[in-house]
Amino acid sequence: MNDRHSEIQRSYQQLGGIGNLYDGIIMRSTLLGKVMDSVIWGLDKHAAARWLNDALSPVAADFAGRLLEVPVGTGVLTLPLYSTLPAAQITCLDYSPDMMENARRRADAMNLNNVSFVQGDVGSLPFPDESFDLVLSLNGFHAFPDKDAAFRETKRVLKKGGVFCGCFYIAGAFARTDWFVRHLYVPKGFFTPPFETKESLARRLRGLYREAEVHNVNAEGFFRCVK
Ligand SMILES: C[S@@+](CC[C@H](N)C(=O)[O-])C[C@H]1O[C@@H](n2cnc3c(N)ncnc32)[C@H](O)[C@@H]1O
Repeated sequence: MNDRHSEIQRSYQQLGGIGNLYDGIIMRSTLLGKVMDSVIWGLDKHAAARWLNDALSPVAADFAGRLLEVPVGTGVLTLPLYSTLPAAQITCLDYSPDMMENARRRADAMNLNNVSFVQGDVGSLPFPDESFDLVLSLNGFHAFPDKDAAFRETKRVLKKGGVFCGCFYIAGAFARTDWFVRHLYVPKGFFTPPFETKESLARRLRGLYREAEVHNVNAEGFFRCVK
C-alpha cells in the first residue's frame, strides 16, 4: 500500500468508527452538519436538500439492472434509494472496511437482500469489463489518490450505453470551500489533490464518454455520462 493510500485509509478508518458523526455531517441532520454545510460549502437548507436529489436523479425510479456504487462510505445517502429498487442488483465497494461496516449494518437493518459489499480499490476494480449498467460515485473522486486509474476503471466496468454519474468537489467554483479544502480536508487526509475544475472535468468526461453533462452548485460538481 503506498503512503497516500494508507493515509486516506487511516483518515476514513477513524471516521468509520464514528459513523454517526459522519452521517450527521453529510446528511446535515446535526448542528455540526448544518454549520459545516453553511460555512464551508455555502449551502442553505434548500440547496443542501437539492444536492442529493441532483446526485441521485440519474438513477431511474424503476432501475432494474446491475449498479456499482463506489465509494459507498457508510451508505447513509444511497441505501434508502436502494430499498426502492428491489429488482436491481447492487454492488457497493469501498477501500475502508470501517466505513463500509456501517453500510453493511444499515443494509442488514433494512433487510436489503439485493445489495452486496466488496472491499477494494477503485483504481483496480475486481470486476470484469462491462459488468454494470450504472456506476454511481458520490463524493469519491476528490478523495481517490489515483484519479486517472479511477476514471479508467469506472469506465472499464461499465457496459456500452451504461450511465456513469455522481458528484464530488470541484476547485475554483467557490473560494470559501477551496480555502477549507486546502487548510483542512487535504491536511487531514480526506481529500487528495490534484482537483478537477468544472471545465477540466467536463473536458475529461467528454473525452471518455459519448455524452457528458456537468453542472455545479457552489463547489459541488455533478456529472452524468453515457458510455
Ligand atoms: C467522503 S467519503 C464518501 C462516501 C459516500 N459516497 C458518501 O458520499 O457519503 C469518501 C470514501 O472514499 C473511500 N475511498 C478513498 N480512497 C478509495 C479508493 N482508492 N478506493 C475505494 N474507496 C476509496 C473512503 O474510504 C471513503 O469511504
